[in-house]
Order: sequence, then structure tokens, then C-alpha cells
Amino acid sequence: MVADLVERFVTTAPRPALGLATGGTMEPVFAELVRRHREHGLSFARVRAYLLDEYLGLDREDPCAYRNAIRRLLARHVDLGAGAVHGPDTHAADLDAECDRYERELRAAPIGLQLLGIGSNGHIAFNEPGSPLDSTTRVVALRGQTRAENARFFPAAQAVPTRAITQGIATIGAANQLVMVACGEHKADSVARALEGPVTSEVPASAIQLHPNVTVVLDRSAAASRAR
Ligand code: GLP
Repeated sequence: MVADLVERFVTTAPRPALGLATGGTMEPVFAELVRRHREHGLSFARVRAYLLDEYLGLDREDPCAYRNAIRRLLARHVDLGAGAVHGPDTHAADLDAECDRYERELRAAPIGLQLLGIGSNGHIAFNEPGSPLDSTTRVVALRGQTRAENARFFPAAQAVPTRAITQGIATIGAANQLVMVACGEHKADSVARALEGPVTSEVPASAIQLHPNVTVVLDRSAAASRAR
């Protein structure tokens, strides 16, 4: 279903600007897009892709950097043009200025379809609970729970960075269409709070309720809770 939405977008938008999330949830999505490219010629040649967030403090070639994960799981297997994957420069001398530059780039793009996961604490991108609903691209500190959940992608738990650059909640909301995906029972509570609870900065993903064009794709386990 998610690949269908992406395929329809990249084949019909005049200049497709595609917002990419990372994380385990997106891996089968990217694998299916690669399959469609190989077997059916689905082309990404016109696509500009934009990262949702990125860790700070990793070497440029670190395989755990989201830019490199996108390259490994998607970009190198399809016909995305050279330089078609955009993101913040985490090695910029002035990170606040770099966040402002990326925010301007995103607003000028603008994103047509934004893929989103959700953290089990209700975060979207790296907007942790307490992130203002009007936040823009900025440097953030990662919560212990988020670092622990993402440790499975790193050689050791201590290797998970403590900071990241993330698109803000308002930045994400400026995309034309949002597609949120969640799988597994560990996501069920945050999904229920995001979709059925109040819109609150304590559940950053609840901000999607304010967006006019959202698709949420859940497996049965992630759909199993009700907001309390
Ligand atoms: C990370 C990413 C988020 C992603 C979340 C869920 O924290 N920054 O963008 O939505 O993980 O990840 P997973 O799909 O691995 O559960």
C-alpha cells in the first residue's frame, strides 16, 4: 500500500519532492520500491529526495548515518540522480545556520509526499515529546528511550548519538501529503494516542491530526490499542 502511494506520486507529480524517513519500518517499503524499479522500471530519475532527520556526531561514511542508510537501502539500487538526496550537513561549522538553510530548502522544494514512522514514545522524525507544534528544523537531544530503541542499528548501545538534526513538526506539516506507517504492538499505544488522543506536543505525532491529507498504514498489532 505504501509503495503504491509512493509510485503514484513519483510517476504523476510534475517535479516530485519525496520526503524520506528511515528506521526499520521503512526497510520493506524501500525493498518494494527497489523491486518495482528492477522488475517494472519504476523510475526515480525525476525525484528529489529529502531526509527527515539525521544523527549528529557520526563520521560522514558511518553506515548508521541516515544519509548512508538511504543510499544503501534505496538510492544505490534505483535511478535517483547524482545529488538527488538532500539533507542537512551535520558537519557544518554552524549547525543552527545549517538547520535554517535546510528549513529554507524544504520550504522552497516543497515536499509533495512525506513518509513518516513513529517512535513508541510518540515522536515523529526526532521530535521528542515536548517538541513545540510550531517547531522548525533544529538540533535536538535524543531521549534515552529513543536511543535504546535505535541501538539495534549500532554496533553498541553507547555508539548511538545523543543529538540529531530534525525537521520540525511545522516543517513536516508543510508537506502536501503525509504517509505514516507503523508496525508491531510496541507502537500500538503511541499510534492510539497520536490518532485518537488530543493534539499535544507531548505526543508529537498527534500533530498529523491537523493535516488535511494524511494516510496512516498500520498492521493489526500497531492498530490494536485505544487511546485512554
Ligand atoms: C527513529 C527515526 C524516526 C522513525 C523512528 C521509528 O527514531 N528518527 O524517523 O520514525 O525511528 O523507527 P522504526 O521504524 O525503526 O521503529
